[in-house]
Amino acid sequence: MEARLIIAGVRDGQGLTAEAAAWFAAGLASGAVSDAQAGAFAMAVFLKGIGTEGRVALTRAMRDSGQVLDWDLAGPVIDKHSTGGIGDSVSLLLAPALAACGVFVPMISGRGLGHTGGTLDKMETIPGYRALPGVEALKKVVAEVGCAIVGATDEIAPADKRLYGIRDISGTVESIDLITASILSKKLAAGLDGLVLDVKVGSGAFMAKMEDAEALARSLVATANGAGCRCSALITDMSQSLGHSAGNALEVIEVMETLTGSAVNEALWDVTAALGGEALVLAGKAETMDDGAAMIDHALETGRAAEVFGKMVAALGGPLDFVERYPDRLPSAPVLVPVPAPRAGFVTRVDARALGEAVVRLGGGRLVGTDRIIPSVGLSGLAVIGEEMDAGEPLALVHATTADRAEAAVAAVRAAYGLSADMPEEPPLIHGRIG
Ligand code: URA
Repeated sequence: MEARLIIAGVRDGQGLTAEAAAWFAAGLASGAVSDAQAGAFAMAVFLKGIGTEGRVALTRAMRDSGQVLDWDLAGPVIDKHSTGGIGDSVSLLLAPALAACGVFVPMISGRGLGHTGGTLDKMETIPGYRALPGVEALKKVVAEVGCAIVGATDEIAPADKRLYGIRDISGTVESIDLITASILSKKLAAGLDGLVLDVKVGSGAFMAKMEDAEALARSLVATANGAGCRCSALITDMSQSLGHSAGNALEVIEVMETLTGSAVNEALWDVTAALGGEALVLAGKAETMDDGAAMIDHALETGRAAEVFGKMVAALGGPLDFVERYPDRLPSAPVLVPVPAPRAGFVTRVDARALGEAVVRLGGGRLVGTDRIIPSVGLSGLAVIGEEMDAGEPLALVHATTADRAEAAVAAVRAAYGLSADMPEEPPLIHGRIG
């Protein structure tokens, strides 16, 4: 095998065989494939495509370029992946709820990307929590508690790590073939029996248009199934923030309020139950999605999910009393400024991407890779589409470290909202299912 010939084959529309994919992925991981060759490969895939067979081959090859976990547990191993959004803290509810239903969840998560929040950044707001504990600790906590939300180690899918960095600087990120193989290689390296996907659509999603979201969902489901992992996807709404809060510690507070029942966010709960229903069917624990969703409802209502969350936090180095004392344990921002509605009317439009960007500029995300997150900042009390506002009533509350930063965020949030005298139709939470 030779990199030059593999690249030329893809360039000429001949696709990618399993053998060629395995050789190329091993070369990416070992360094035998140069940066120039990796860039040319990515561009050839971007322009010509590799079809479902090629996607399966590349996914398997990148998965196998590093460590693939294996499990010996008393139940199925299942995970969820979201394509990313604003105020989307579903993972923090779903992992413990699934564990409470007898499923094992090694949730290998990422950090914020662009304007979207990252599960790992949220978990790291919990003092002492070890988000990168290594594979042995991950396996131990999953076996003992039922779930662990952690980050990927360097041993997981190293070929993807290298190719992702090269795509980032070569104009080849937005390829469905490459996105599919990138997401799935990391997820499938966790040794899953099943994977449920939350593909977001709307102003705050990477796929703003339904046709693009559907195309990505179809590709992910077909490729995961082709690679031997049962998979289904829901296309869920991201035309506004899913939670009332966006920002790392603020989202953890919203999760804890929902888990403990002190202030339930229904949108978060309903999306969690729908994805959980899918996951429990994939796991063979429920006959139908509705049965599965009812099991998740029960885990949340009875406090079982909260209990599992508390055990996971403690097992990974966080406070032993986090569930009871989370308001005292999480950081809070010194400057709080409301964003007054400029006039009375119904909320008709939210630019969710602009809200995410506002959180990033407050310090809740990264403008460059080396930026350190400020965990306490963000937005809370976000008004939702269809809500009727009086003039001056807050559209949101800005949590900032300085008055200057707060002022910029107030202007950005005000511009992100559209108000009108006519009541709009509220967007559905779930737009579709691919399975
Ligand atoms: N997330 C990934 O892990 N890879 C991509 O290519 C895009 C999103």
